[in-house]
Amino acid sequence: MKKRTMAMMMAASFFGAAGCSAENAKIQKVETEPEKVLVAYYSWSGNTRFAAEQIQKLTGGTLFEIKPVQAYPADYSACVDQAKQECRDEFKPELATKVDNLAKYDVIFVGTPNWWSTMAPPVRSFLSSYDFSGKTVIPFVTHGGGGMAGCERDMRKICPKAAFGKGGAFSGRGVRNAEEALRKWVDEVVTVRK
Ligand SMILES: Cc1cc2nc3c(=O)[nH]c(=O)nc-3n(C[C@H](O)[C@H](O)[C@H](O)COP(=O)(O)O)c2cc1C
Repeated sequence: MKKRTMAMMMAASFFGAAGCSAENAKIQKVETEPEKVLVAYYSWSGNTRFAAEQIQKLTGGTLFEIKPVQAYPADYSACVDQAKQECRDEFKPELATKVDNLAKYDVIFVGTPNWWSTMAPPVRSFLSSYDFSGKTVIPFVTHGGGGMAGCERDMRKICPKAAFGKGGAFSGRGVRNAEEALRKWVDEVVTVRK
């Protein structure tokens, strides 16, 4: 029998926040297969990349780096200044990388550093570039102390037709020692039938 990816235990509540349609359902746990999992991330200094690589190993999914055409300044202060303006303007930079065929994925982990309490602009571009209807988006964030902040909320606004799994937030500084916490969270949000 053909295995089918299915959403399990759809929560009865829907999100009524501004910009979120009733379709923006909250999923408690999804069941899927490795071929249907995409782990997309943007990372400036490597922390979110580390988390993404762990999630890829745990799920057997496909790793995808979201890269802007114009890289952000290597200098921290210059990067922070540029990011401040861009996050405020909800700027969407042009991307240098493209997912081959998003249609073949059902579960998309989307990783970002917390930048000014929201997602990094390349992640905004990524989420705006594809049709996420019927997909489950699972946000993950690394941060410098601010946690998830507005990252998940703002992702939901961009993808009103996706269902959202429970987001994961991990300290950037501690992420390399957070393998157990990452594993626990992945187990909570997805069952991957190999
Ligand atoms: C431009 C910029 C803005 C940031 N803004 C925040 C913030 O608002 N809140 C926070 O907790 N951390 C903030 N940080 C820290 C990063 O979220 C944290 O170091 C993260 O783990 C970096 O991930 P990366 O190594 O994948 O780029 C910021 C870092 C940068 C470079």
